[in-house]
Amino acid sequence: MKANCQVYSGNAHRGLAESIAQYLGLPLGAAYVGRFPDGEIDVKVEDDVRGGECFVVQPTCPPVNENLMELLVLLDCLRRASAASITAVIPYFGYARKDRKDEGRVPITAKLVANLLEAAGVTRVVTVDLHAPQIQGFFDIPVDHLYAQPVLIRHFQAYASQDIVLACPDVGGMKLIRNWAKQLDASMAVVDKRRHGPDEVETGRIIGDVRDRIAILVDDMIATGGSIVKAADAVLAAGAREVHVCATHPVMAGEAHRRIEESRISRVVVTDSIPLAPAQCGPGSKIEVASLARLLGEAIKRIYHKDSVSSLFALDGFIP
Ligand code: R5P
Repeated sequence: MKANCQVYSGNAHRGLAESIAQYLGLPLGAAYVGRFPDGEIDVKVEDDVRGGECFVVQPTCPPVNENLMELLVLLDCLRRASAASITAVIPYFGYARKDRKDEGRVPITAKLVANLLEAAGVTRVVTVDLHAPQIQGFFDIPVDHLYAQPVLIRHFQAYASQDIVLACPDVGGMKLIRNWAKQLDASMAVVDKRRHGPDEVETGRIIGDVRDRIAILVDDMIATGGSIVKAADAVLAAGAREVHVCATHPVMAGEAHRRIEESRISRVVVTDSIPLAPAQCGPGSKIEVASLARLLGEAIKRIYHKDSVSSLFALDGFIP
């Protein structure tokens, strides 16, 4: 890498930013991201970034507003310091659930966040498994939307020769599991989920045959854990032998961790798009973490060298 490539981090996930920088063979860029006594965000980039290609790693995970605002302030700082390009690497893109007006008098918050990022000076966005892929179109700059599947699937490769079924907790997930099913030579099933509120989920029929099979439930995120735990119960009630879960973003709001540990789910594999406390994924926990550091590091390398990023989308295009 040339010296004019710098990777910066806010406070959302310094560990992931450090691993990405390590993959690139770079030290993490020197920047202070702190608070004034009244809670306002204070940033000072210590490096000379004039004419440089800067990458800012910051998932907008809880505390969402703090992390989003840190990202905006960092972007503004780098733009005013004359960086040539500023890429926001947002492994988890928060506020993605409000991507359309599905009733009167509601905001489209995902679009608002895209506007804010562009207003702050971002020139490119790299993100992973957006809750709604069409959010890419909310930006008028390039968005590299990566898939975590190549990183996650190897945690399930051992099941490939067994009788497995790939399942998703709602019909929206069908597209997500189609590739998985092809790669693992598995059948597919869908749980008919209805959401009555942010933390109230009802599951109904299962479409597809799960009887006597190992079910792998795939979802983009675990927020309260309600969807995945209820879907697991439904799949087991329909005769599955055991249930494993795979989700890209471990938002883990409220009682999610306890819900999962107390559930009948055998194992949960998530990425480190969002940091987890050691107690949530350490020994004795059902939760395993697969790192996105190499995938994101490789994307940054290719963007910097103006090489293809879309070749990372293919399962065999990148061996994590
Ligand atoms: C829904 O569309 C998503 O794919 C997830 O299933 C959902 O956001 C998870 O939320 P929770 O864990 O709160 O049920």
